[in-house]
Amino acid sequence: MEWGMANRLAQLIPSDGRCLFLPVDHGYFQGPTRKLEEPRKTIEPLLPYADAIFITRGVVRSSVDPDNTRPIILRVSGGTSMVGADLANEGITTDIDEVIRLNASAMGLSIFVGTDYEKDSLLSLSKLVNEGERYGIPVMAVTAVGKELEKRDARYLALCSRIAAELGARIVKTYWCEGFEKVVKGCPVPVVMAGGPRVETELEVFQFVHDGIQKGAIGVNLGRNIWQNEHPVAMIKAIRAIIHDDATPEQAQEIYDTVKNE
Ligand code: 5RP
Repeated sequence: MEWGMANRLAQLIPSDGRCLFLPVDHGYFQGPTRKLEEPRKTIEPLLPYADAIFITRGVVRSSVDPDNTRPIILRVSGGTSMVGADLANEGITTDIDEVIRLNASAMGLSIFVGTDYEKDSLLSLSKLVNEGERYGIPVMAVTAVGKELEKRDARYLALCSRIAAELGARIVKTYWCEGFEKVVKGCPVPVVMAGGPRVETELEVFQFVHDGIQKGAIGVNLGRNIWQNEHPVAMIKAIRAIIHDDATPEQAQEIYDTVKNE
């Protein structure tokens, strides 16, 4: 692997080989998502605990100080909205020049396997990989399901993740699911887990993150279950402990309870 690519991956993934990416890109199709209405207020307290942030160029420029940040994974796909005809109809929104200008450590793009726009999104991924490899910038592929949350099963996610890796993604972001080991086993590049919509209890989040790590994920790219929680700093610290310190779900719960009461 060339130096620039290896160096950018090392910025994103610390030396223990695990990572906590904090996504705050949701506004690119959801608008002012709950608890992300004012991105700076959401991002600033969480930044010290994130290994990287997943973010669009508009929010980086407006809401993150260049002299006080973490590595950037730039969200470079979009062009659709929650109220539009089809969430899957995304394109590439951001030139490689802009990615370099913003000193991003990686680029992220969604693929929509099994939709009418499967081919477009897979060819967009290939184009992005071609450009990224030219400049040593890794691509994180996001196996998106749009509004069809029921698609999140091992067979489908393994298919999407493998295709993303075959097309050259250096990291694949997918959902945790029952039988998650099948997804990881079939994907020859590192896998990180997305969170999805907020779940009922903190413990459920700790359990699926822990399970996914045991089954081979290198970390998470987990947003709403952190920053929509009433105690986001407690949440990110607890999840960080599972990822970087091998905490059990119960130990993570203790960390959450302690930090929440401080
Ligand atoms: C939005 C994304 C998010 O980065 C991803 O869904 C992770 O966030 P969450 O944990 O809130 O699902 O790709 O398109």
